[in-house]
Amino acid sequence: MATTTGNAEVAEVTGEDGVRRRDFIEIAAVSAAGVGALATLVPLVTQMSPSADVLAESTTELDISALEVGQSIKAVFRKQPVFVRRLTSNEIEAANAVDVDSLRDPQTLAERTLPGHEELLVVMGVCTHLGCVPLGAAEGENKGEFGGYFCPCHGSHYDTAARIRKGPAPTNLAVPEYSISDTTLVIG
Ligand code: FES
Repeated sequence: MATTTGNAEVAEVTGEDGVRRRDFIEIAAVSAAGVGALATLVPLVTQMSPSADVLAESTTELDISALEVGQSIKAVFRKQPVFVRRLTSNEIEAANAVDVDSLRDPQTLAERTLPGHEELLVVMGVCTHLGCVPLGAAEGENKGEFGGYFCPCHGSHYDTAARIRKGPAPTNLAVPEYSISDTTLVIG
């Protein structure tokens, strides 16, 4: 099971084989600096609110050891949603089959992932049009016409590398700074 430094909510679905399985994990991760906890106290204890510097330096750590192929984690990084997905071979093939020059925001999957970890896609869950949270990180959600993420606000479709393919969003879903150490993903 993927865990982190915050509360975790695990959702289960029933697959075609009738076996219930965990397909995604929604995680309200708190930052290493405890920013999330402090932020909830802002209305009452304003003097304890984190400074912009602290917020900017906060990180999110996720245990990805149990993240299986095809599964996603929804987490929070610096108060914004972040999607972590272990791509299937079909999703990788689909991403690599695209003519990059035809893209609105030309990037290869390799350019959007870490060397040796092309299967692990980490993107901000914030539509680059007007900031809605796209669908597609959870089983059963609409992944759009290109099998990645779909923003229903105004109809932006992202592909399996979370690149904008259709709709008004001007750029791909942003890839945050991150690193991978053994089974730990550190965002920020
Ligand atoms: S905010 Fe996503 S399409 Fe407009």
